This record gives sequence, structure tokens and C-alpha cells, in this order.
Amino acid sequence: MYKVNEPLELPLLYHLNSPPPEAYAQPVPASEMRYMPDAPVVELPPAPRDNHLASLLSRRCSVRAFKNTEISQIVLAQLLDAACGINGVRQVEGYTYEGRNSPSAGGLYPIEMFVSIQAVTGLSAGLYHYEPRGHGLHWVNETVPSEFIAPLLQQDYITHANALFILTGVFMRSLYKYGTRGYRFVLFEAGHQAENICLMAVELGLGSLCLGGFQDTSVNQILGIDGQRHAALYCVAVGTAAHY
Ligand SMILES: Cc1cc2nc3c(=O)[nH]c(=O)nc-3n(C[C@H](O)[C@H](O)[C@H](O)COP(=O)(O)O)c2cc1C
Repeated sequence: MYKVNEPLELPLLYHLNSPPPEAYAQPVPASEMRYMPDAPVVELPPAPRDNHLASLLSRRCSVRAFKNTEISQIVLAQLLDAACGINGVRQVEGYTYEGRNSPSAGGLYPIEMFVSIQAVTGLSAGLYHYEPRGHGLHWVNETVPSEFIAPLLQQDYITHANALFILTGVFMRSLYKYGTRGYRFVLFEAGHQAENICLMAVELGLGSLCLGGFQDTSVNQILGIDGQRHAALYCVAVGTAAHY
């Protein structure tokens, strides 16, 4: 185990040294692509897909062209609620927990949710922070999704997305309890919340795109966060798919 002066030091060293690659190495060697390629396969019965969740899962796919349409505030509320909304109070082993729509190690919820919107009925275009306690938005600044194209490595797929969700991690919220292991938990939890957004988007007839490729410094600057104790981790664009 490497010794560090404070729990954040080692994860931060990794975090700050994991920029998007300048070029992608293609193709990935075949040896990396399949585990136990020569082992016999014990066949399973087909997984029934005639249920709502299986249907949502199988209809989710990455959408890279959105139509210029408007969505309602209720739709935005449902997407945010799916990611990290509070759904009640839970009692576990004598402790009272806030129940949310995604799991969190120790119930610490290190993910903060920002959303940049450009076509939501009755809401000014710009960047907001979502506050699950009270289910509302804090105004941050006037940055609309298309202004994230440059930081997103020129990925202009999001030009007409209604909303760009930016999931950030407040690392110490997990690291105080779990030490360096907590860094993994923060990343896992961003994944849980992103998938919830993608599935809710399908449910609402919308498309989504997860984006992990972006310039950290620029995104953090737009959000007004320090990029060290609190940093952008993952983005999800949502809108009306252009090919529907
Ligand atoms: C962690 C992660 C990061 C991703 N980053 C990007 C990205 O920066 N740009 C992009 O176009 N797609 C990105 N994707 C989408 C993947 O390319 C896509 O999920 C994959 O090709 C499988 O296709 P599907 O989503 O349609 O099932 C990302 C997906 C994941 C899970």
C-alpha cells in the first residue's frame, strides 16, 4: 500500500493524470477482448424480455444526433429524479437514511448533478445545479449545452440536446469514510446515476449519449468547481433523437 498524507492525495494523482488520450490505439488486441475464449459454454435459457425493464434496457442506445425540440419541466424533473431523487426515508440497523433512486456507498452520495439546458419550457437556458433535498435547481450561469462542445473534444453530437447532465464527484465525501477505496465508489456512483438517466430517457421517448471524453479543466471551470476536491466525472446528453 502506498503511503499518502491524506486520503485524497493518491486518487487525485490518478485523477489528474487521466486526461483523454490524444489518439486511440486501434484495434484492441484480441487477447484483451474475450475472457476464457476456449472454455465450453453451458447454455442458459433465453432471458425473457417481455417486461418493462428489459424493454427499456434493450431500447437504450447511444444517440449522436438530436432534433431541435423543446421538453417540459416535468420531463427534466423525471430525468433528474431518476438519477438522484430522494424517494423516502429508510431505517437500516437503527439508523435513518435518506432513500434515493440510485445506490451510494454508506449513503454518502458524493455525486453532485449539474444540468445545462437549452430548450426546456419555462426555464431560462443555462447551467443549473440540482438539489435533491427540495427537488429544485440552483442557477449557476448562462452556459448552454452547445458551449460544452469544445470542452467535449469537439463532439458536436450534443448540438441540439435539450439537456447535458454533468455528474461531478465531491471526493472527500466518500474518502473520509473509505479512504482511497472511496475513489472507486465515487466513480461507480456516477455510473449508476448516468444509467438511470439513460433508462428514464428511453421511458420518456428520448435519446441519450454518455460522454466520458472531455477536457477536465475547461468543464470544471465552466461549473465553477476546483477540479481537485470536486471534479467533473461524466456527462450524459439527452434530447429527441433526430432519426425518430
Ligand atoms: C464511460 C463511457 C464513456 C463514453 N464516452 C463517449 C464519448 O465521449 N463519446 C461518444 O460518442 N460516446 C461515448 N460513450 C458511448 C459509447 O461509445 C457507447 O456506449 C458504446 O459504443 C456502446 O453503444 P450503445 O451505447 O449504443 O450501446 C461512452 C460510453 C461510456 C460507458
